[in-house]
Amino acid sequence: MDLSVTIAGVKFPTCFMNASGALCVTREELLALGRSRAGAIVTKSMTLEPRLGNPEPRYYGFPGGSINSMGLPNLGYRAYAEMIPELTQFGKPVIASIAGLCEDDFLTMARAINQARPDLIEVNLSCPNIPGKPQIAYDPVDSERLLKRVRPLITVPMGVKLPPYFDPAHHAVMAEVIRRCEVDYLNLINSVGNGLVVDPKRDTPVIRPKGGFGGLGGSLIKPVALANVRAFWTLLEGRIPIIGTGGVVQGIDAYEHLLCGASAVQVGTVLVEEGVGVFERLERELVAELSTRGAQSLQECRGKLKEL
Ligand code: SIN
Repeated sequence: MDLSVTIAGVKFPTCFMNASGALCVTREELLALGRSRAGAIVTKSMTLEPRLGNPEPRYYGFPGGSINSMGLPNLGYRAYAEMIPELTQFGKPVIASIAGLCEDDFLTMARAINQARPDLIEVNLSCPNIPGKPQIAYDPVDSERLLKRVRPLITVPMGVKLPPYFDPAHHAVMAEVIRRCEVDYLNLINSVGNGLVVDPKRDTPVIRPKGGFGGLGGSLIKPVALANVRAFWTLLEGRIPIIGTGGVVQGIDAYEHLLCGASAVQVGTVLVEEGVGVFERLERELVAELSTRGAQSLQECRGKLKEL
Protein backbone atom coordinates (compact mmCIF):
# COMPACT_ATOMS: atom_id res chain seq x y z
CA MET A 1 0.00 0.00 0.00
CA ASP A 2 1.18 3.49 -0.85
CA LEU A 3 1.96 5.37 2.40
CA SER A 4 3.29 8.47 0.66
CA VAL A 5 1.80 11.85 1.54
CA THR A 6 2.05 15.39 0.27
CA ILE A 7 2.32 18.19 2.80
CA ALA A 8 2.38 21.81 1.68
CA GLY A 9 3.20 20.62 -1.84
CA VAL A 10 6.16 18.47 -0.71
CA LYS A 11 5.97 14.72 -1.31
CA PHE A 12 7.01 12.41 1.55
CA PRO A 13 7.69 8.76 0.54
CA THR A 14 6.03 7.52 3.75
CA CYS A 15 4.04 9.16 6.52
CA PHE A 16 6.48 8.20 9.31
CA MET A 17 9.45 10.35 10.28
CA ASN A 18 11.55 11.24 13.29
CA ALA A 19 10.43 13.88 15.74
CA SER A 20 12.94 16.69 16.04
CA GLY A 21 15.22 15.81 18.92
CA ALA A 22 15.24 12.05 18.43
CA LEU A 23 18.52 10.79 16.93
CA CYS A 24 18.96 13.85 14.71
CA VAL A 25 21.68 16.04 16.24
CA THR A 26 24.86 14.87 14.52
CA ARG A 27 25.68 14.41 10.83
CA GLU A 28 25.97 10.64 11.41
CA GLU A 29 22.50 10.48 12.98
CA LEU A 30 20.99 12.54 10.17
CA LEU A 31 22.65 10.37 7.51
CA ALA A 32 21.32 7.26 9.29
CA LEU A 33 17.81 8.74 9.02
CA GLY A 34 18.50 9.33 5.35
CA ARG A 35 19.41 5.67 4.83
CA SER A 36 16.47 4.42 6.90
CA ARG A 37 12.81 3.99 5.92
CA ALA A 38 11.96 7.35 7.57
CA GLY A 39 9.80 9.46 5.26
CA ALA A 40 11.83 12.60 5.99
CA ILE A 41 14.93 13.80 7.76
CA VAL A 42 14.02 16.23 10.53
CA THR A 43 16.91 18.07 12.15
CA LYS A 44 17.29 18.73 15.82
CA SER A 45 15.99 22.22 16.60
CA MET A 46 18.97 24.42 15.95
CA THR A 47 20.04 27.56 17.73
CA LEU A 48 22.28 30.42 16.67
CA GLU A 49 25.31 29.04 18.48
CA PRO A 50 26.20 25.39 19.13
CA ARG A 51 24.91 24.18 22.51
CA LEU A 52 25.94 21.32 24.78
CA GLY A 53 22.50 21.41 26.36
CA ASN A 54 21.44 20.89 29.95
CA PRO A 55 23.40 18.84 32.52
CA GLU A 56 22.89 15.06 32.60
CA PRO A 57 20.96 12.99 33.42
CA ARG A 58 18.51 14.77 31.12
CA TYR A 59 16.55 11.92 29.51
CA TYR A 60 14.75 9.09 31.27
CA GLY A 61 12.55 6.43 29.75
CA PHE A 62 9.98 4.57 31.84
CA PRO A 63 7.06 2.24 31.09
CA GLY A 64 4.59 4.30 29.10
CA GLY A 65 6.78 7.23 28.24
CA SER A 66 9.80 9.42 28.76
CA ILE A 67 10.82 12.70 30.31
CA ASN A 68 13.53 14.94 28.91
CA SER A 69 15.15 18.25 29.52
CA MET A 70 17.80 18.19 26.84
CA GLY A 71 18.13 21.96 26.60
CA LEU A 72 18.56 22.07 22.82
CA PRO A 73 21.95 20.41 22.42
CA ASN A 74 22.83 21.02 18.76
CA LEU A 75 25.63 21.96 16.41
CA GLY A 76 24.42 25.49 15.69
CA TYR A 77 22.65 26.62 12.52
CA ARG A 78 25.81 27.13 10.46
CA ALA A 79 26.69 23.42 10.69
CA TYR A 80 23.18 22.35 9.66
CA ALA A 81 23.11 24.87 6.80
CA GLU A 82 26.30 23.25 5.47
CA MET A 83 24.85 19.75 5.84
CA ILE A 84 21.52 20.39 4.12
CA PRO A 85 22.75 19.90 0.51
CA GLU A 86 24.11 16.45 1.47
CA LEU A 87 20.92 15.52 3.34
CA THR A 88 18.70 16.42 0.41
CA GLN A 89 20.40 13.69 -1.69
CA PHE A 90 18.37 10.92 -0.05
CA GLY A 91 15.21 11.49 -2.10
CA LYS A 92 13.11 12.43 0.91
CA PRO A 93 12.28 15.84 2.35
CA VAL A 94 14.57 17.57 4.81
CA ILE A 95 12.83 19.57 7.52
CA ALA A 96 15.10 22.09 9.23
CA SER A 97 13.85 22.96 12.69
CA ILE A 98 14.83 26.35 14.12
CA ALA A 99 14.51 27.42 17.76
CA GLY A 100 15.79 30.86 18.67
CA LEU A 101 16.59 31.91 22.20
CA CYS A 102 15.20 35.34 21.27
CA GLU A 103 13.12 36.68 18.41
CA ASP A 104 16.07 37.99 16.38
CA ASP A 105 17.72 34.56 16.46
CA PHE A 106 14.76 33.17 14.53
CA LEU A 107 15.19 35.83 11.86
CA THR A 108 18.93 35.24 11.42
CA MET A 109 18.44 31.49 11.19
CA ALA A 110 15.41 31.72 8.91
CA ARG A 111 17.41 33.80 6.40
CA ALA A 112 20.46 31.52 6.41
CA ILE A 113 18.63 28.20 6.51
CA ASN A 114 16.26 29.31 3.77
CA GLN A 115 19.29 29.93 1.56
CA ALA A 116 20.49 26.37 2.21
CA ARG A 117 17.17 25.15 0.66
CA PRO A 118 15.82 22.44 2.92
CA ASP A 119 12.42 21.21 1.69
CA LEU A 120 10.60 22.74 4.64
CA ILE A 121 11.49 24.92 7.62
CA GLU A 122 9.84 24.32 10.97
CA VAL A 123 9.66 27.14 13.50
CA ASN A 124 9.77 25.59 16.95
CA LEU A 125 7.83 27.82 19.34
CA SER A 126 7.50 25.21 22.04
CA CYS A 127 10.73 24.04 23.68
CA PRO A 128 9.92 23.73 27.40
CA ASN A 129 13.46 23.09 28.59
CA ILE A 130 15.46 26.30 28.53
CA PRO A 131 15.72 27.66 32.07
CA GLY A 132 14.21 31.13 32.23
CA LYS A 133 12.71 30.99 28.71
CA PRO A 134 8.98 30.41 28.55
CA GLN A 135 7.49 28.49 25.63
CA ILE A 136 6.77 31.23 23.08
CA ALA A 137 3.62 29.57 21.78
CA TYR A 138 1.91 30.02 25.15
CA ASP A 139 1.88 33.75 24.35
CA PRO A 140 -0.26 34.34 21.24
CA VAL A 141 0.81 37.98 20.89
CA ASP A 142 4.53 37.15 20.93
CA SER A 143 3.92 34.19 18.62
CA GLU A 144 2.08 36.28 16.06
CA ARG A 145 4.68 39.03 16.06
CA LEU A 146 7.49 36.51 15.62
CA LEU A 147 5.75 34.54 12.88
CA LYS A 148 4.88 37.68 10.95
CA ARG A 149 8.54 38.74 11.00
CA VAL A 150 9.83 35.31 10.03
CA ARG A 151 7.24 34.53 7.34
CA PRO A 152 8.62 36.80 4.58
CA LEU A 153 12.14 35.40 5.04
CA ILE A 154 11.11 31.81 4.32
CA THR A 155 10.37 30.84 0.72
CA VAL A 156 10.10 27.08 1.27
CA PRO A 157 6.99 25.79 3.10
CA MET A 158 6.99 26.99 6.70
CA GLY A 159 5.65 24.89 9.54
CA VAL A 160 5.18 25.70 13.20
CA LYS A 161 5.65 23.30 16.08
CA LEU A 162 3.26 24.04 18.90
CA PRO A 163 3.06 22.83 22.47
CA PRO A 164 -0.07 21.11 23.74
CA TYR A 165 -2.98 23.34 24.74
CA PHE A 166 -5.47 22.18 27.30
CA ASP A 167 -8.42 24.48 26.80
CA PRO A 168 -10.61 25.05 23.73
CA ALA A 169 -10.25 28.83 24.18
CA HIS A 170 -6.48 28.48 23.75
CA HIS A 171 -6.89 26.24 20.69
CA ALA A 172 -9.17 28.86 19.15
CA VAL A 173 -6.82 31.80 19.80
CA MET A 174 -3.80 29.97 18.39
CA ALA A 175 -5.70 28.67 15.37
CA GLU A 176 -6.47 32.28 14.47
CA VAL A 177 -2.81 33.25 14.88
CA ILE A 178 -1.81 30.37 12.60
CA ARG A 179 -4.36 31.40 10.01
CA ARG A 180 -3.25 35.04 10.03
CA CYS A 181 0.44 34.16 9.77
CA GLU A 182 0.15 32.06 6.60
CA VAL A 183 1.59 28.95 8.14
CA ASP A 184 1.90 26.08 5.64
CA TYR A 185 1.70 23.19 8.08
CA LEU A 186 1.51 22.49 11.81
CA ASN A 187 3.43 20.00 13.90
CA LEU A 188 1.34 18.99 16.95
CA ILE A 189 2.56 18.53 19.64
CA ASN A 190 5.88 19.13 21.33
CA SER A 191 6.42 17.28 24.59
CA VAL A 192 4.02 17.98 27.44
CA GLY A 193 6.20 20.47 29.24
CA ASN A 194 7.24 20.60 32.84
CA GLY A 195 6.18 17.23 34.10
CA LEU A 196 8.00 15.71 37.07
CA VAL A 197 8.95 12.04 37.42
CA VAL A 198 10.15 11.00 40.87
CA ASP A 199 12.42 8.10 41.81
CA PRO A 200 10.99 7.03 45.18
CA LYS A 201 14.00 4.77 45.87
CA ARG A 202 16.30 7.78 45.97
CA ASP A 203 13.78 10.50 46.85
CA THR A 204 14.94 12.47 43.81
CA PRO A 205 13.67 13.45 40.39
CA VAL A 206 14.88 11.19 37.56
CA ILE A 207 16.51 14.03 35.60
CA ARG A 208 18.77 16.82 36.84
CA PRO A 209 17.90 20.06 34.97
CA LYS A 210 15.25 22.48 36.23
CA GLY A 211 14.75 20.61 39.50
CA GLY A 212 13.62 17.54 37.55
CA PHE A 213 10.94 19.30 35.47
CA GLY A 214 10.91 18.19 31.85
CA GLY A 215 8.90 17.42 28.74
CA LEU A 216 6.86 14.22 28.73
CA GLY A 217 6.67 12.04 25.64
CA GLY A 218 5.60 8.55 24.59
CA SER A 219 2.34 6.64 24.99
CA LEU A 220 1.14 8.58 27.99
CA ILE A 221 0.79 11.81 25.98
CA LYS A 222 -1.14 10.29 23.06
CA PRO A 223 -4.58 11.50 24.22
CA VAL A 224 -3.23 15.05 24.58
CA ALA A 225 -1.62 14.90 21.12
CA LEU A 226 -4.78 13.50 19.51
CA ALA A 227 -6.91 16.20 21.12
CA ASN A 228 -4.66 18.93 19.78
CA VAL A 229 -4.55 17.42 16.27
CA ARG A 230 -8.34 17.14 16.31
CA ALA A 231 -8.92 20.63 17.69
CA PHE A 232 -6.68 22.38 15.13
CA TRP A 233 -7.92 20.21 12.27
CA THR A 234 -11.49 21.20 13.11
CA LEU A 235 -10.80 24.88 13.76
CA LEU A 236 -8.75 25.24 10.57
CA GLU A 237 -11.30 23.17 8.61
CA GLY A 238 -8.65 20.74 7.40
CA ARG A 239 -7.00 23.48 5.31
CA ILE A 240 -3.59 23.42 7.02
CA PRO A 241 -1.87 20.02 6.99
CA ILE A 242 -0.88 18.61 10.36
CA ILE A 243 1.98 16.35 11.34
CA GLY A 244 0.83 14.48 14.45
CA THR A 245 3.49 13.92 17.09
CA GLY A 246 2.96 12.28 20.45
CA GLY A 247 2.38 8.72 21.53
CA VAL A 248 3.04 6.99 18.22
CA VAL A 249 4.47 3.65 19.32
CA GLN A 250 2.54 1.24 17.08
CA GLY A 251 0.77 1.41 13.72
CA ILE A 252 -2.60 1.76 15.44
CA ASP A 253 -1.41 5.00 17.09
CA ALA A 254 -0.60 6.44 13.66
CA TYR A 255 -4.05 5.38 12.45
CA GLU A 256 -5.64 7.28 15.36
CA HIS A 257 -3.63 10.40 14.49
CA LEU A 258 -4.83 10.11 10.86
CA LEU A 259 -8.45 9.79 11.97
CA CYS A 260 -8.05 12.96 14.04
CA GLY A 261 -6.70 14.86 11.03
CA ALA A 262 -2.96 14.26 10.79
CA SER A 263 -1.39 13.82 7.35
CA ALA A 264 1.79 12.24 8.72
CA VAL A 265 3.25 11.35 12.11
CA GLN A 266 6.55 11.73 13.91
CA VAL A 267 8.11 9.41 16.45
CA GLY A 268 10.37 10.40 19.30
CA THR A 269 10.44 8.16 22.37
CA VAL A 270 10.07 4.89 20.45
CA LEU A 271 12.76 5.93 17.96
CA VAL A 272 15.18 6.56 20.82
CA GLU A 273 14.29 3.13 22.27
CA GLU A 274 14.31 1.06 19.07
CA GLY A 275 16.55 2.94 16.65
CA VAL A 276 15.84 3.63 12.98
CA GLY A 277 14.51 0.11 12.37
CA VAL A 278 11.30 1.33 13.99
CA PHE A 279 10.12 2.94 10.74
CA GLU A 280 9.84 -0.39 8.93
CA ARG A 281 7.85 -1.91 11.80
CA LEU A 282 5.48 1.05 11.94
CA GLU A 283 4.88 0.93 8.19
CA ARG A 284 4.07 -2.77 8.38
CA GLU A 285 1.71 -2.26 11.29
CA LEU A 286 -0.10 0.69 9.72
CA VAL A 287 -0.58 -1.18 6.44
CA ALA A 288 -2.11 -4.06 8.44
CA GLU A 289 -4.46 -1.66 10.28
CA LEU A 290 -5.58 -0.01 7.04
CA SER A 291 -6.05 -3.36 5.27
CA THR A 292 -8.14 -4.75 8.15
CA ARG A 293 -10.45 -1.75 7.70
CA GLY A 294 -10.58 -2.11 3.91
CA ALA A 295 -8.93 1.29 3.43
CA GLN A 296 -6.99 1.77 0.20
CA SER A 297 -5.09 4.91 1.20
CA LEU A 298 -4.18 7.22 4.03
CA GLN A 299 -6.15 10.04 2.46
CA GLU A 300 -9.47 8.29 2.81
CA CYS A 301 -9.02 8.02 6.61
CA ARG A 302 -7.74 11.52 7.29
CA GLY A 303 -9.96 13.47 9.66
CA LYS A 304 -12.69 10.79 9.54
CA LEU A 305 -13.15 10.43 13.30
CA LYS A 306 -16.83 9.75 13.84
CA GLU A 307 -18.91 11.33 16.57
CA LEU A 308 -20.63 9.05 19.06
C1 SIN B 1 15.12 20.00 24.17
O1 SIN B 1 16.17 20.01 23.48
O2 SIN B 1 15.15 20.29 25.36
C2 SIN B 1 13.83 19.62 23.54
C3 SIN B 1 13.50 20.47 22.39
C4 SIN B 1 12.06 20.79 22.29
O3 SIN B 1 11.25 20.30 23.07
O4 SIN B 1 11.68 21.56 21.40
